[in-house]
Amino acid sequence: MTLIRSIPGAVSISGARSISGARAWVVTAGRSCAVLRLDARDRLLSAHWGRELGLEQAAALVGVSVPVTAGAAAPGFGAVGHGGAWPFEEDVEGPLELAVGAAFQFGHAQLAVRFADGTRELELEFVSALIENSDTEDTAELVLSFADRHYPLAVESRYRVRSGSPVIERRLVLRHTGSAGEEIISILRADSASWTLPPLADYRLSQVRGRWAAETRLHRSSPPFGETLLTSRRGITGHHANPWVMVDDGTAGATHGQVFGCALAWSGSWQITVERTSADRTVVAAGFGPDGAVWPLAPGEVLTTPVSAGIWTDGGFDAASQAWHAYVLDHVLPHAEELRPVVYNSWEATGFDVSLEGQLALARQAAGIGVELFVMDDGWFGSRTSDRTGLGDWWPNPDRFPDGLAPLVKGVRELGMDFGLWVEPEMVNPDSDLYREHPDWVLHQPFRQRSEHRNQLVLNLARPDVAEWVHEWLDRLVAENDIGFLKWDMNRPFTEVGWPEAGNGGGDLVWRRYVENLYALLDKLRAGHPSLRIESCSGGGGRLDAGMLARVDQVWTSDNTDALDRLAIQEGFAQVYPARVMSAWVTDSPNPHTGRRMPLEFRFHVAMSGVLGIGGDLAEWSEEELVTAREMVAAYKRIRPVVQHGVRYTHGNASGDLSGAEYVAADRSEAVVFVYRRERRFAQMERPVVLRGVDAGGRYRDVGSGIVHHGAVLLSRGLPMALGGGDPVSTMVHLVREG
Ligand code: GLA
Repeated sequence: MTLIRSIPGAVSISGARSISGARAWVVTAGRSCAVLRLDARDRLLSAHWGRELGLEQAAALVGVSVPVTAGAAAPGFGAVGHGGAWPFEEDVEGPLELAVGAAFQFGHAQLAVRFADGTRELELEFVSALIENSDTEDTAELVLSFADRHYPLAVESRYRVRSGSPVIERRLVLRHTGSAGEEIISILRADSASWTLPPLADYRLSQVRGRWAAETRLHRSSPPFGETLLTSRRGITGHHANPWVMVDDGTAGATHGQVFGCALAWSGSWQITVERTSADRTVVAAGFGPDGAVWPLAPGEVLTTPVSAGIWTDGGFDAASQAWHAYVLDHVLPHAEELRPVVYNSWEATGFDVSLEGQLALARQAAGIGVELFVMDDGWFGSRTSDRTGLGDWWPNPDRFPDGLAPLVKGVRELGMDFGLWVEPEMVNPDSDLYREHPDWVLHQPFRQRSEHRNQLVLNLARPDVAEWVHEWLDRLVAENDIGFLKWDMNRPFTEVGWPEAGNGGGDLVWRRYVENLYALLDKLRAGHPSLRIESCSGGGGRLDAGMLARVDQVWTSDNTDALDRLAIQEGFAQVYPARVMSAWVTDSPNPHTGRRMPLEFRFHVAMSGVLGIGGDLAEWSEEELVTAREMVAAYKRIRPVVQHGVRYTHGNASGDLSGAEYVAADRSEAVVFVYRRERRFAQMERPVVLRGVDAGGRYRDVGSGIVHHGAVLLSRGLPMALGGGDPVSTMVHLVREG
């Protein structure tokens, strides 16, 4: 059971204020906890984040601080300096749990505001602590409330935990408490959380980097002293970075070591600031909005930041990833219990060249190999015969589909498959009826050019009329055509970010409103069509984050479908996000992106470690290839529950010669092991793969060979490998427990 408890001896947590003594709380999540306390100046400090502490231990930890007087040090925390005795050593650094950049806080300010008279200094007084326990949802939330001493601003720092989950969810809630007519408060920065790490022997940062067709590639490095900014200024989560980090002391491995992680649930521009102070403490702040955007808060208005989730484990990177996967599956994703179907997508086969006959021919082939969901990609609407025209005109192309989509949908359904469609609702080609009618609907600034990318502009979804229009046509399209699945694409970053009709602040506000309206739109569409499922795509994996995952069912991982490149992309993806949301297609050889030839089985084995799809031109596949495909799809359906819902263990790393993934059912009744050999060097021998998730006491039958393995042997000597010749090469072993 996960609980928030107040430390015995601490003051009453309801409505307490300015009472001397330890004012402290412990937030427990699974085997981890955070201990927070207030100092005499009502600054919220982090006393601990890491291994779970009992109440007594946490109290002792907080008790070690001497009674704090204004400006005095809190030994053990390095909280404040030396009463001014040592010039330049009075900085408040490291343990601030709510960093507002007030006096002597020279580090990154999680919260920064400007009042109407120009004052920027925040002087927060503690108001109350409230613990809200929800029995129905098994959640508990600690709400620490502060108010500025003079100005009408209330600030809440919220911590939410759930029974059985090691994740702490944090966010800020800002409220203008003045009455109508009072001046607005400008919010200059509102990060959801500052996560203070304990002193470690060293710090190492894990992140993913990327670009289009090369997303989510894992990178570990020692952060420099100073501030490292991971960010997206593109209006979307972005291909170049993803809003999470993990930090360890440089020695953690797949199976051992403390790992601290934090992620942000936001699908627009964002920032994660990793601050390593010169005294060698590390704080990670995560928040929404690009640098420089100023958000006005009017009297009565409330600004709630997105959730920043944090985890701690001492079980190494696998345990950290497993914790993230469980969090996404149990608490973020809608309908996570469902198994995702095998998809066929026509994009790589046909490009924009879609027709009723062509799609039906592909659908017949797809059904023949066991596909369950047929998706027609781009090129079906308006005058969209290339990427130059038609985006925004969301009716079936009258030349290509003179009778609408009905004949195709009917044909696909008669083949026993569900029907899905590609849409890109947030975009417009200037060469479209929509743009000719509503040139003011796009993001733009007066007297500035409108930079096109892929010949398109971004619709300003922050405008209520635009958001309403998008919902209206999507709602109709889905209802009229019995559409079960949308691939929701977003193919360019924001530029000339402006909203002139909203006045002076519109260009700043749009960064936030756009995403809020996107979320509202997805929520409303899903509510109106409960069986509709959605894939998030943004030129591949450009919009992958926990905010999006709360309202979509899967994510298109990358436009790069080269199986060898995918190993690296999928490795980074899997650090935080589960296989259940990782769309992966088998496409043609040579691969259209890289020109590389790879065996069909290898391509399947890579795609089968996520949500399997087929994206090749099936009309060109030989009879032999189609037979193999049918067998592989059937095999995937057997292993799918273990891959999509199981616990993942990583073997090797994707850039090494040999790598793999092991998925184990929660009850350890089954395991699926993928092994990939990129390159065989010096005739190296294949070593057995030492499994990590099976039950030592169990006996497991290899479904392929019939050989029975003892769990204890698999966990010590390993699973023997015989990959054979040729590179790249792979194998997939499905183990079922017999006893
Ligand atoms: C983006 C997507 C692709 C495809 C095209 C269609 O690039 O990532 O999968 O849907 O758009 O234009």
